[in-house]
Amino acid sequence: MPHLESNPSSPRSLLLTKRPAGRLILALAMVMTLRFASSGVRADNDLVVIDHQGDRVIADFEGPDYGRWTATGDAFGSGPARGALPGQMAVDGFQGKGLVNSFLNGDGSTGTLTSPEFRIERPYIAFLIGGGRIPGKTALRLLVEDSVVREASGTNTQPGGTETLSPEFWDVSDLQGRTARIQIVDQATGGWGHINVDQIVQSDRKPAGPTLNATRAFQVKDRYLLLPIRNGAPKRVVTLLVNGSPVVRNDVELADGAPDWWAPMDVGAFKNGSVTLQVDRLPAGSTALDGIQSSEAYPDAGGLYREPLRGQFHFSPRRGWNNDPNGLVFFNGEYHLFFQHNPYGWGWGNMHWGHAVSRDLVHWEELGDVLAPDPLGPMFSGSAVVDLQNTSGLGSKEHPPLVLIYTAAGDPTVQCLASSTEGRRFTKYSGNPVLRQVTSGNRDPKVFWHAPTQRWVMPLYVETNKVHTIQFFGSPNLKDWTFLSRTDGYYECPDFFELPVAGSEGTRKWVLTAASSEYQVGTFDGTRFTPETPKLPGHRGRGFYAAQTFSDLPASDGRRIQIGWFQTETKGMPFNQSMTVPLELRLAATAEGPRLTWTPVRELEALRKSPRSFGAIQVAPGNPNPLAGVNAELVELRADFEPGANTETIFTIRGARITYHAGTQELAVQGLRAPAPLQNGHQRLIVFCDRTGLEIFASDGLTYIPVPFQPASADQSLAIECLGGTSKFGSLDVFELRSAWPEP
Ligand code: FRU
Repeated sequence: MPHLESNPSSPRSLLLTKRPAGRLILALAMVMTLRFASSGVRADNDLVVIDHQGDRVIADFEGPDYGRWTATGDAFGSGPARGALPGQMAVDGFQGKGLVNSFLNGDGSTGTLTSPEFRIERPYIAFLIGGGRIPGKTALRLLVEDSVVREASGTNTQPGGTETLSPEFWDVSDLQGRTARIQIVDQATGGWGHINVDQIVQSDRKPAGPTLNATRAFQVKDRYLLLPIRNGAPKRVVTLLVNGSPVVRNDVELADGAPDWWAPMDVGAFKNGSVTLQVDRLPAGSTALDGIQSSEAYPDAGGLYREPLRGQFHFSPRRGWNNDPNGLVFFNGEYHLFFQHNPYGWGWGNMHWGHAVSRDLVHWEELGDVLAPDPLGPMFSGSAVVDLQNTSGLGSKEHPPLVLIYTAAGDPTVQCLASSTEGRRFTKYSGNPVLRQVTSGNRDPKVFWHAPTQRWVMPLYVETNKVHTIQFFGSPNLKDWTFLSRTDGYYECPDFFELPVAGSEGTRKWVLTAASSEYQVGTFDGTRFTPETPKLPGHRGRGFYAAQTFSDLPASDGRRIQIGWFQTETKGMPFNQSMTVPLELRLAATAEGPRLTWTPVRELEALRKSPRSFGAIQVAPGNPNPLAGVNAELVELRADFEPGANTETIFTIRGARITYHAGTQELAVQGLRAPAPLQNGHQRLIVFCDRTGLEIFASDGLTYIPVPFQPASADQSLAIECLGGTSKFGSLDVFELRSAWPEP
């Protein structure tokens, strides 16, 4: 499994085991099925503590150090951890305040932690364990005369997973009377290369549960099995079995009792047959499997898209989590938006490719997931192209295939293809992978057809020797790839495209960008990118990441359209995160050279209702609010104004203050401050306000500020005021917008 490194600039710093709390909120207290030593009894690792139930506590790791245990290497440090370590997901399920956690210094560290000798005096040794399941490398061991007589490990093998410790035990009745030692081993350096252990106890009583590999069979009559989800519950590995063979495994926060929401699992393909769901472990007495329901209808279909925190003109998945847009492509008259989707969780995990289509870039219909995790790993980000000449042989000249190029993020992490000739059902290519691992964690292929050299080109994020690089590969057929060149300094989700430079007849330049949206402008000879600018800042807001642009727009269109992941957290909703509005990218000619501009696509005009035009007006200090009486929940505001010297022109949109400071030519909003230079004395401002965020465009698109923001539902007011002088408005238009979702 790859070790993907954390990205300080990403609010969802990567990865595998290391999602911050905001992204993966893990368990509340887990239901303990074993009765361990009650709190207040400290073993202090001296091997003789007997708790009130007569159990012998071998170690509870509540002390400041490991006592008489000996540590080697750098994974364990000098004493127990107190929960999660820097860069780690929330850790829970341990007892008291301390535990052994070998994530110290990340997954790369290794070592052992060994107890002094003790006598096995009870038939059972119980413990709490979590972390990686890397055979022979992440383990808790029982040693007798230096031989390993028992071994246990965590449960995680894939990116995602859970840092919850679970109760387990060994039956050691055959070893009673022997002298033994416990050893905790971390010899793994990649993803999930750590082990968590707590509360090791000798007991006379056989600990209850957990129930391992419980199953429930279903005769499939309906399209969906509804899985009960409780956000933060311990993650269970839920495997869908058909004819006894595993089809897909997901980590699911299964609810015992009333769920927060229902996650539909589409089993329509197996209608009139039978499927089985298997859960890796459940606490004794759990009713989670019984709670699963069968339903033809999507859960709460009536309330869909009307939820209080549903962005009304920003795409979000019906259920679950989204991150990156993937495979943006125009095919057979439709725009396709694939996306990183966790169908079974509110946080990141179980990476599928979700799928939505639109005929106008504004109204999206979510279909269903097209790529599910498989033995090569979870389905990480990638792109889509229309293979017009059928170079791949995956379609025909008459029916060119739509080809998805994605990362399968197992170990190794590899690049793969899936294709469809009708744009609905996708088949993974039987010859996958098409590009083997370059280095661990390489990912996010963004493929395009390079007409001058008549070949496909794939920029791919690759880390080599701790340098973040974009490596370019070339292929005649999407299946065979050779290395072309590399450009350093970009982290994940590259995009690379050519744009005309506005106003310079015939000049076209290439833009290299990646997840942060920083970019460089330069030339591309079919093999190598030669930058002509330093690295330039991209968006100026927050919560914008991993954007990509559409492939295969009709030549008559000529635009380059981008959609970004908009990190709009929606607590309490059965879905989380969204996408930005589609953005048109251009290269403007500025005194400093060509610079990217972002503007909302014109198609969004279809959402306008009740336009209010205020014409040319002046706003001076103390003037009445020109927008008094204009109320709107969903807002588009457009203003072209000339601010007086050193004025502050303040637009208040549903409680968000957007201030243009003429003195410094900066725009301030929600704690952000961005340069927004006047263009010939004018500031042209566009503001979109949805239930979950603002998108602000200033300086003719040179400044793009996306901001997650949840206005109070009662506040639908708009206002403009000016401080320190007069602002002259050449035009001022406000549009109330309609929802882009279908009417109920
Ligand atoms: C960016 C990213 C990609 C990866 C995907 C996994 O947000 O980390 O690099 O492919 O998300 O979901």
